[in-house]
Amino acid sequence: MSTNLILPHGGKLINKQAKRNHDDLKTFEVSPDIRTDAENISTGVFSPLEGFLTQEDFLNVLKEGRLSNGIPWTIPIIVDVKKEVAGHMKDLGDIVLRSDGQEFAILHVDEIYAYNKDDIATAVYGTNDFNHPGVNRLSKMHEFLVGGKMEVFQMKEHDKIQKFRMHPTETRAEIVKRGWKTVVGFQTRNVPHVAHEMLQKAALNMYDGLFVNPLIGKKKIGDFTDSLIIDAYESLIMNYFPKNRVLFSTIHTLMRYAGPREAIHHAIMRKNFGCTHFIVGRDHAGVGDYYPPFAAQEIFNEYPDLEIEPVVFPSFYFCKTCMSYANEKTCPHGAESKEELSGTMIRKMVNSGKVPEKHLMRPEISDLILRSEKPFVVD
Ligand code: ADX
Repeated sequence: MSTNLILPHGGKLINKQAKRNHDDLKTFEVSPDIRTDAENISTGVFSPLEGFLTQEDFLNVLKEGRLSNGIPWTIPIIVDVKKEVAGHMKDLGDIVLRSDGQEFAILHVDEIYAYNKDDIATAVYGTNDFNHPGVNRLSKMHEFLVGGKMEVFQMKEHDKIQKFRMHPTETRAEIVKRGWKTVVGFQTRNVPHVAHEMLQKAALNMYDGLFVNPLIGKKKIGDFTDSLIIDAYESLIMNYFPKNRVLFSTIHTLMRYAGPREAIHHAIMRKNFGCTHFIVGRDHAGVGDYYPPFAAQEIFNEYPDLEIEPVVFPSFYFCKTCMSYANEKTCPHGAESKEELSGTMIRKMVNSGKVPEKHLMRPEISDLILRSEKPFVVD
């Protein structure tokens, strides 16, 4: 592999995929979200993690936004278990994890520890308000955490939702094949509106390739469904992008709505995929009014050692006087000229049966949304 590629986070791409070679281990059921995290550890998306956080790392992540060896890491990757189960697991050493009836990984139990949910809420989400979807999810977690390295021996079966999934080894090989020296990553949890596209194209003016990487996984009620996001991006790229400048792949993980801390996590994952740069716009990974609109950009100042570089943008809007997409750095006009654009506004328009105008959303995308029986997550 070319030495020009950015190194994975922590210096080396983790590979924790293995053949099953233990038969008589005790099995424990975990949630599908924990399985997804395990898969991300095993394929190196979460490099340098080799397993679920042990207590020292967990506490350091909360307090410092770094692993105990100092490497930047902002989101705790953890397995929660009930008190009775924790007692049971204590002396077992190795256990098998199962989700939805399928055994998939071996976890080498290193530690079982109690933790404080309020501490996670405050450190990661900056709030302990139950209305925040991340805090709400946290409130339902079991009382103990299990830390230890692991190997995945059974990945989830490929389905429609995984059609565009690529592992870091594959995206890195593709970047080398395309000869890109600079690659800018784009995270999204929405179907694309034109402001998203303008952000992507503005970045594409400066870098060799664009890595469009929608987040597929559990989201809050009212967000767009995964299959619609995938279809919409397939259509957008086919109709509006030069194919040789875009690499499209999905990332499979939980949306955490942790604003600034999640922006760092998003950047780290894209670094592992081979991106040198990462787009951070307005209210990245935000929800409601929990985070100031540019907090997710400012947090990068605390991580000069991240290596992947943030590409920050002001808020893009459509300016009726400029007759183009603009922002406060490029346009002098007042509120009467501005048409703001956000995922929330698009959802509102769709809910009220209104088709967004062509300069706000590409007609192919509006059409896909309106034809979709279930455009939004309902539970
Ligand atoms: S996110 O939760 O994945 O961040 P979304 O899919 O809406 O939400 O945003 C993807 C990226 O586009 C984020 O970096 C976000 O900050 C940026 N973004 C979305 N809309 C705008 C806008 N109107 N102006 C500037 N940046 C934007």
